[in-house]
Amino acid sequence: MSRADSRRPDFTIILPCIAAMVAAAILIAAKSLCAAQPELPARELRAPAPVHEILQRACYDCHSDQTRWPWYSYLPPISFWVRGEVAAGRRRLNFSAWQDYATDPGTEDRKLENIARLLKSGAMPPWYYIATHPAASMNDADRAMLSDWIADRRKSLAAGADRPGRQ
Ligand code: HEC
Repeated sequence: MSRADSRRPDFTIILPCIAAMVAAAILIAAKSLCAAQPELPARELRAPAPVHEILQRACYDCHSDQTRWPWYSYLPPISFWVRGEVAAGRRRLNFSAWQDYATDPGTEDRKLENIARLLKSGAMPPWYYIATHPAASMNDADRAMLSDWIADRRKSLAAGADRPGRQ
């Protein structure tokens, strides 16, 4: 190898280095963009924000993995009852496992139908929950918002026009 050769930049090294730096910069930029939006857990229900807000306020304590445990849920014997209610609630309906319903033919539609039925009858949220969590009580606008969402969602499921689990 002559002296001139050894001074010439070695592009077989420099080019991949530049490419790696560009790729890293893109990755960092993409990551910070993603971080700006709160990430939902993978199996969580995807619903429009106002719908999600109502469900979180009125249902999530018993029907998700995001239960906000009150202080008395640590206090026997009340704790046995509270934890039993939450376990029973999650077993029947868990918004944190919604993608499992969405990928199981017919299940999401059945869950939506049950929600609509219990909302209409006023059985959910249970009276004792509203008594201790006044913010969970729902007005007519909240109920209308949920029933519109359920109707839309069931319609697109029936039409099969929808990818599973998307809004
Ligand atoms: C304090 C806890 C609690 C809250 C809050 C609550 N639920 Fe429930 N829910 C339960 C329990 C417990 C069951 C199971 C009852 C049973 O097994 O008989 C249940 C059952 C259900 C079911 C029946 C599921 C099925 O497939 O059979 C639906 C639908 C439901 N709840 C909807 C709701 C909705 C919608 C909200 C909010 C508006 C809500 N629940 C709020 C405790 C709760």
